[in-house]
Amino acid sequence: MTDALRLVDITAAHLDDVIRVRSRSFGPLGVSNREEWIKDAQEFIDGNRYVGVADGNEVVAAGRIWDFRQWWGGRQVPMAGIASVVVSPEYRGRGVGSMLMRGVLARSVEQGFPLTALYPATTVIYRHLGYEFSGGRYRFSFPAADLRSLGGKDVGIRRAGPADAGRFLELVAESHAAGRVNGPLVWAESKVAEWLEDEDNFGYLADDGFVVYNWHDSDLRIDEIVAGSEATARALWATVGSGSSIATNVQAYIAPNDPVHLLVNHEADKHAQLQRWMLRVLDAPAAIAARGFAPGATVEVDLELEDLEVGGNTGRWHLSVADGSGSLAPSTGAGDALRLGSRGLAALYAGTPLAALRRSGLASGGSATADGPIDTAFGGATSYMLDFF
Ligand SMILES: CC(C)(COP(=O)(O)OP(=O)(O)OC[C@H]1O[C@@H](n2cnc3c(N)ncnc32)[C@H](O)[C@@H]1OP(=O)(O)O)[C@@H](O)C(=O)NCCC(=O)NCCS
Repeated sequence: MTDALRLVDITAAHLDDVIRVRSRSFGPLGVSNREEWIKDAQEFIDGNRYVGVADGNEVVAAGRIWDFRQWWGGRQVPMAGIASVVVSPEYRGRGVGSMLMRGVLARSVEQGFPLTALYPATTVIYRHLGYEFSGGRYRFSFPAADLRSLGGKDVGIRRAGPADAGRFLELVAESHAAGRVNGPLVWAESKVAEWLEDEDNFGYLADDGFVVYNWHDSDLRIDEIVAGSEATARALWATVGSGSSIATNVQAYIAPNDPVHLLVNHEADKHAQLQRWMLRVLDAPAAIAARGFAPGATVEVDLELEDLEVGGNTGRWHLSVADGSGSLAPSTGAGDALRLGSRGLAALYAGTPLAALRRSGLASGGSATADGPIDTAFGGATSYMLDFF
């Protein structure tokens, strides 16, 4: 290792190096997956969203930035999804991962993302850089026989294919806006069409909902289900449950408060799976302006933000929330303001109650009597994602 480490933009010429580091980090790619991996990598290269660290001419670390939008308070906020963060073993534990992530954060800011999120394989490095746990990816399991008898037989449903991608996105948008949902990702229509084109995925469409599921070993597994009414929810879940003569269980990636929990007779399997993801605010005023807030909440409060990595967030701000929208403007106020670092801001943004933030040292100052309206404004449906990236 030399002192000549520098941040680089990954190019096609670097991909052999990246694959070498990647195999040492996540396991072998396999010959058959190599072509697809390179095709995916090219999308990040083309978007200037693949950052690396080079030692001389050799790339020894790399990370990708997905161009996502994420639902917050029923509105879509641009979000940089960080993935495939890898450092070559002989360079680990020397600050290379942190150097890479600082490059990734700077690029995400340059590209105008107010938020960034990631699934951490280890949390320490990301916490040092201002990320905090902000939601989970939940997988529940239901007895297929229980779903089979949910009814909804009068609801018309038909098989869906790639041509239905636009309709799927409309249904998701209607459902998430109405539910003031927090957390799920928005995918491009082309990616949704690819998903529906895969013959291993079984899509069904109703007037106000859809389901996409597949086989997972001897279980059936729901990737996504949206239902605008009780009857449609019953019909779609029962359609998947109709496989109960072969599949014992139906696993499902769904929100922790999905209506199905209130429809099924038996509790979901106690071994529900939870993968937690972390969030970071990159541009506090833009992140506040873009999201939705609880419609009845009114907040007028000063915040003192300290962000050691993204200087633009640091300072005294005035937060106003009314009629479901918010704004953050520089404040010249005096007196004790609610103090948050970047981890506290991320967790608050995702609806973590201020009592929890105060008790973990992530929030201090201000007046605790103002905490209630702030909690109400940022709170609402538990944040979740359906997809791993
Ligand atoms: C995780 C990884 C990217 C970290 O890279 P790195 O160059 O070792 O990170 P740094 O040296 O900059 O470490 C930054 C901080 O994270 C901590 N850290 C790094 N790896 C850690 C681990 N596996 N467990 C606990 N803490 C870890 C370091 O101790 C340091 O904290 P400190 O300053 O308080 O001591 C690297 O180990 C790696 O490539 N691992 C395999 C692939 C992987 O897990 N990628 C992450 C996907 S989300």
